[in-house]
Amino acid sequence: MLLSPMIKRFFSTGGVHLKQVTFRNLRGKKVSSQQWLARQLTDPYIEKARMMNFRCRSAFKLTEIDDRFRILQPGFNVIDCGAAPGSWTQVAVNRVNANGKKHDDRRGKVISVDRNNFHPIDGAIILGNSDFTSAETQEKIKVYLGQERVDVVLSDMAPNATGIREMDVENILNLCYSTLRFALQVSRTGASLIVKLWQCKESKQLEDDISKYYEDVRVMKPNASRTDSAEIFLMAREFKGVVAP
Ligand SMILES: C[S@@+](CC[C@H](N)C(=O)[O-])C[C@H]1O[C@@H](n2cnc3c(N)ncnc32)[C@H](O)[C@@H]1O
Repeated sequence: MLLSPMIKRFFSTGGVHLKQVTFRNLRGKKVSSQQWLARQLTDPYIEKARMMNFRCRSAFKLTEIDDRFRILQPGFNVIDCGAAPGSWTQVAVNRVNANGKKHDDRRGKVISVDRNNFHPIDGAIILGNSDFTSAETQEKIKVYLGQERVDVVLSDMAPNATGIREMDVENILNLCYSTLRFALQVSRTGASLIVKLWQCKESKQLEDDISKYYEDVRVMKPNASRTDSAEIFLMAREFKGVVAP
């Protein structure tokens, strides 16, 4: 079990039940393939994502968090870091009304960045092939923002796994700190931040560092996040604003 019992589950499964699947077709396949297929076939979020036209099951991690904390509101500006294939962007676009589909005058803006290319999403500004940590990408985001401040910064970024745990942890923490530094520059007072990381002893330090700038910081493990995955999310609300020295 990778997760510490200290990390509470905040969400109910909302009535999602595993469907009955016969595994006859898996006979003769490698054990790893059988495990992968069995997981795909029994994962209720994969089916639900297909039905709701989300590009991947990750959409439900963000919807669970937002259903509870309502950080995405019509008219809000959102930066989605590590956005490909785009399911968080799909959720954000709908909730902040960046596509204008809500009967609401307030129209938000979603700027989505990934080092990989990904298909356009109606209502979002897509910056594919862009390393979020580079100064060039961050300047580009600022140009798209113009004079506007950001209400929510999201990072579901994950580095390529090297297989060396210490290095993987260091890499994801670097992505988190890069996101935090950027959020401090562009966010309005009262804004929110979500970053993904892996459970590790350093997560407490990151939580403490984020707490210097945000009133409320929580460790989250949404139901849609697989229990055998070490991923957790830090959600920070009520950005205090940066006081000039
Ligand atoms: C788990 S996926 C994100 C899934 C996405 N939230 C969704 O719902 O579709 C992680 C993404 O982070 C991206 N990524 C990792 N490091 C990055 C970086 N330095 N800059 C931009 N994207 C990065 C990867 O390319 C990958 O697409």
